[in-house]
Amino acid sequence: MEELFAEARQAALAAYAPYSKFRVGAALLSVDGRVFTGCNVENRSFGLTICAERGAVMYAVSKGHRSFAALAIAALDSLAPVPPCGACRQVLSEFMLPDARVYFGGASAERVDVTIGALYPFDSLHDLAVP
Ligand code: THU
Repeated sequence: MEELFAEARQAALAAYAPYSKFRVGAALLSVDGRVFTGCNVENRSFGLTICAERGAVMYAVSKGHRSFAALAIAALDSLAPVPPCGACRQVLSEFMLPDARVYFGGASAERVDVTIGALYPFDSLHDLAVP
């Protein structure tokens, strides 16, 4: 996971965050072992900002990858680990099974290692799906 985190940190260097000055990178590991990264891209109309996590999902899916085993998120400008926002949790859950791992950290060595199922419970796509 630290290797995936290093990819996320590298991706965060490309963040376009002139308004928040809060750079975030995400690295998604597909079930077939490929890594897809994203960074946050802000807009002067703040609500149009796209988070790093959703950027990584859009990139991976556009390359034909739809199933992910793990995600790392690196927030360069926060000491504390930064978890994905609610919108990103739902988008991630579309392409990750509940036991897929989400690993996040800030600029310190502290990391949080959880599952998408813990971050996004009662998921209508997986947990509540009719068999
Ligand atoms: N941001 C992300 O890209 N991912 C997160 O998990 C948290 C927040 C971005 C959105 C915005 O550009 C900046 O961080 C401040 O919220």
